[in-house]
Amino acid sequence: MTHKINGNDFMQGLGANEKAILNRIPVLFLRKIATKIVRAKMRMQFTGWLQYFLPMIFVLLFSLIGGIAFLFKASFLAIPFLVLATLISMVAIFDVVTSKFRLRFPERLPKRNDTLDLFDLMRVRRSCRSFQTRKLTDAGYNELMASVRMHTEEPQIGKSPVRFEYISAPLTVWPVVNATEFLVAIAPKEYDRLAVIDVGRSLQKIVTDATRMGLGTCWIGPGADHVSIKQNLGDRFDAEKDHIICVCAVGYKSNYYIPIFLRIFNAQFKRRLPLAELFFADADFEHPLDMHAAPFNHFGRTYEICQWAPSSYNGQTTRCVANVAESGELKSLDFYAATASRYYAPVALGIWCANWEMGSAALGIHGHFAILPAEERGVQDKASRPPLPRYDVSWLVDENLAKQ
Ligand SMILES: Cc1cc2nc3c(=O)[nH]c(=O)nc-3n(C[C@H](O)[C@H](O)[C@H](O)COP(=O)(O)O)c2cc1C
Repeated sequence: MTHKINGNDFMQGLGANEKAILNRIPVLFLRKIATKIVRAKMRMQFTGWLQYFLPMIFVLLFSLIGGIAFLFKASFLAIPFLVLATLISMVAIFDVVTSKFRLRFPERLPKRNDTLDLFDLMRVRRSCRSFQTRKLTDAGYNELMASVRMHTEEPQIGKSPVRFEYISAPLTVWPVVNATEFLVAIAPKEYDRLAVIDVGRSLQKIVTDATRMGLGTCWIGPGADHVSIKQNLGDRFDAEKDHIICVCAVGYKSNYYIPIFLRIFNAQFKRRLPLAELFFADADFEHPLDMHAAPFNHFGRTYEICQWAPSSYNGQTTRCVANVAESGELKSLDFYAATASRYYAPVALGIWCANWEMGSAALGIHGHFAILPAEERGVQDKASRPPLPRYDVSWLVDENLAKQ
């Protein structure tokens, strides 16, 4: 084993995930080449060029196929490939000029979403990965900061404080382009899972307010470069006490200048797991919840807005179990994380908590969060249970919901 670590010195500085993937390559020589490619990719990623370079791989590939077909006089094959390569290069050049060098016509301010109800509002939210080059208006900035203050001061689930620092700077983030304003989510350095859940819960409420204001938002976790964030935070970040959980880009969505790579990237996240794989009637996750039966039908579209909540890489790691008393009365909704991730799964779970309580409140149903012991969740044989999904927190309904 020692030999392997020493033999892999060339991987120094790479993240644990990258190292794990590279270590699966059995031949040392190939591992070294793959490491060089990963390093080049990371350099391009954090200088903001990778988004524009990736389409060029297709240009090269199609030109090669077209060129070979041309040599073999197969012009019926050569022409379509060469035309395709030319079209993609034209789009790629347009993207570089308008998005990387920002030579573009100004766009209109997007409309506010004040007329939408909470459920429609949450359904129009999508991650925005290409922003206009203008800054937030003064009124927009003040309204956003009022939302940050309000949701930071609200009672949290955990006891550790979390906060959101505003940065106005072109941070290097992946793969989002032209984001220049961010909220940085900070929790205590010492790991506290409830604080990570609170980050998700509070930031999701801020994101919802931002969506109402007509702003585009994008949560950025793995794609954030912490070095540049800390530099920009300056003395607002204390390395002894603070830990950056993620950032959220905020600004005006660009409707016209979206690099081709991002159009394809965004399209892959348009799907969600069916509700039957997210909400369960039992803590063994065997029976899907019948949302149309009383008392679960009281929650209407609240299930849907949890289903469409954002999560890192659209991992959709949160599960929910309805905890019903023998009398048939709903006691709680218990939220579980389906993976062992220490940060992004609890953030995603916090986002569900926010959506659940906002959705229920919009329907006039109020509740509060608490951590329930296994017996109170109807979980009997705790020792023999698999470690995942892992229980985190429950939402207890404050009133007795009618059974019909
Ligand atoms: C905690 C967290 C971290 C995320 N990190 C990134 C990121 O680094 N880069 C990115 O482009 N999107 C990131 N996202 C956005 C997700 O990819 C996105 O929410 C998901 O694919 C669903 O798409 P939607 O937000 O458009 O509904 C993150 C989302 C969450 C909740």
